[in-house]
Amino acid sequence: MIGRLNHVAIAVPDLEAARALYRDTLGGRVSEIVDQPEHGVRTVFVELPNTKIELLGVLGERSPIAAFLERNPAGGIHHLCYEVDDILAARDRLRARGARVLGDGEPKIGAHGKPVLFLHPKDFCGTLVELEQA
Ligand code: CO
Repeated sequence: MIGRLNHVAIAVPDLEAARALYRDTLGGRVSEIVDQPEHGVRTVFVELPNTKIELLGVLGERSPIAAFLERNPAGGIHHLCYEVDDILAARDRLRARGARVLGDGEPKIGAHGKPVLFLHPKDFCGTLVELEQA
């Protein structure tokens, strides 16, 4: 069911600094910073030949990554995103197998303008998993 690794997301305390690190020290191709108010984050994408890195910074008071950054003040890997062909079929299959889909279970439009869902980390080896309909 899962296809390509779409991105690895890293939550960071200072998005400008992380963007400069990936651009200047690692020599990566980085995007501009984009605010995602409906998700409570600001993002930078680093384009790699085989996948992407999503750098996540806090946006607003109720950012979903605020608690993560409290536990990981230097930043850390926040989630992995796998592509699926049909997100509703993926959701139904996962639920039928006992996996917990976060939120109300309805796909939201993610950072790439495509439908996404998140799966409970306790059901997936301690890793928050995002599914994106490719
Ligand atoms: Co993501």
